Amino acid sequence: MSDIHARLVRLAASGRFDAVLRAAAGLPDDGGAAQAFKHGAAALKRNDAFSAAAAFETVRRLDPAFPALAEALTAAYRRDARYVDALAASEGQNGRQCRFERALSLLALGRGAEALTELDAILAADPDHAASWFASHAPALEVHGLDEARHRLVRATACVGANGKYWGYLASYALLAGDPAAETLLRDHVDPFPARRALADGIRALLPHCGGSPRLFGLSASVLRFALEQAVLPGLVLEFGVRRGTSVTVLAQAAGQAVHGFDSFEGLPQSWGAEPAGVLTCGAQLPPVPDNVTLHAGWFEDTLEPFLADHADPVRLVNVDSDIYASARFVLERLKGRILPGTVLVFDEFVGNRTWALDEFKAFAEFVAESGIGWRVLALAPHTKQVVIRVEES
Ligand SMILES: C[S@@+](CC[C@H](N)C(=O)[O-])C[C@H]1O[C@@H](n2cnc3c(N)ncnc32)[C@H](O)[C@@H]1O
Repeated sequence: MSDIHARLVRLAASGRFDAVLRAAAGLPDDGGAAQAFKHGAAALKRNDAFSAAAAFETVRRLDPAFPALAEALTAAYRRDARYVDALAASEGQNGRQCRFERALSLLALGRGAEALTELDAILAADPDHAASWFASHAPALEVHGLDEARHRLVRATACVGANGKYWGYLASYALLAGDPAAETLLRDHVDPFPARRALADGIRALLPHCGGSPRLFGLSASVLRFALEQAVLPGLVLEFGVRRGTSVTVLAQAAGQAVHGFDSFEGLPQSWGAEPAGVLTCGAQLPPVPDNVTLHAGWFEDTLEPFLADHADPVRLVNVDSDIYASARFVLERLKGRILPGTVLVFDEFVGNRTWALDEFKAFAEFVAESGIGWRVLALAPHTKQVVIRVEES
């Protein structure tokens, strides 16, 4: 075994996947598995999960025993939203990296209890793994309740090298629970640190619209099922941003009616923060979806008008999961007149990101100002950044 291969084996065994990706830059351009691994690692580092998955699949074809391949494939599939493939690639692998990616995949698939089991297995072996304490608060919220979720966030903040944003989550849950401890948490651990403030600032903007305590969720699938239960106005169920079909499948299973999904399947039409245009691409491939889903492939700007010309109904529920301001703005503007009292809106990147106030939140605020609708927040999911809003009489 060459020196670099031995190094990759050692780094993968120690759970230092970031170091594996860095070390892969030293692999030779041999036209074979090593070169494909190097390309896959570089793609993962620049957040191009689609290219990374393709490169690691090449490695698997050429040399299935290549060091750290299970870790690399699992990470690429999970980031490419191919969660079922991520579970298959990590099967039987019980190192920290594979378990962690498996847990995030299970969370995305709405399998909270199994995700919690994986994260607790990591924590049993390494009680100072901050990212697992943090990630585990989301399924714990649904499996055990808010107190356990907050306890896990406290444990996350106490770990060596913990990410400062965990304090923002802790303070935000305190705010949402109406706990007076929120004031001290915000004053001492959040507000003086700009990098920690995003979630708490978003929650503070939404609290006046919550009308009491909003429902709190940790999993996207639970949010979507709850949103559909609240959406009793007969009409269209729409999703903008389908990607690999995870959320549209949940909607389709719970809606009891036709669901329409819109996506270019070529990623974002423009850059978003550090992400370049085209990020989140599926290579123009449409995902498999349940029979009651119709996919409308193309840019919203080209597909929505003709669809509306053929469908006169109001909107029962719309899931806006297209990330950027321009896409949310376009969709809301075109749906004006179809979004009526009783319509339920779900947004996926509403709170928690550094740029939250300039993204979907801004598009919605402009829509409210222009249409004069009333609205109320029914539910929030801090970990997934989702919010459920019901349109009301103004
Ligand atoms: C975060 S992904 C959607 C995730 C999906 N809901 C899920 O459950 O995994 C965002 C998607 O929005 C799509 N998108 C964003 N803006 C768009 C636009 N203007 N036209 C078409 N697709 C767009 C991208 O192609 C991307 O697939």
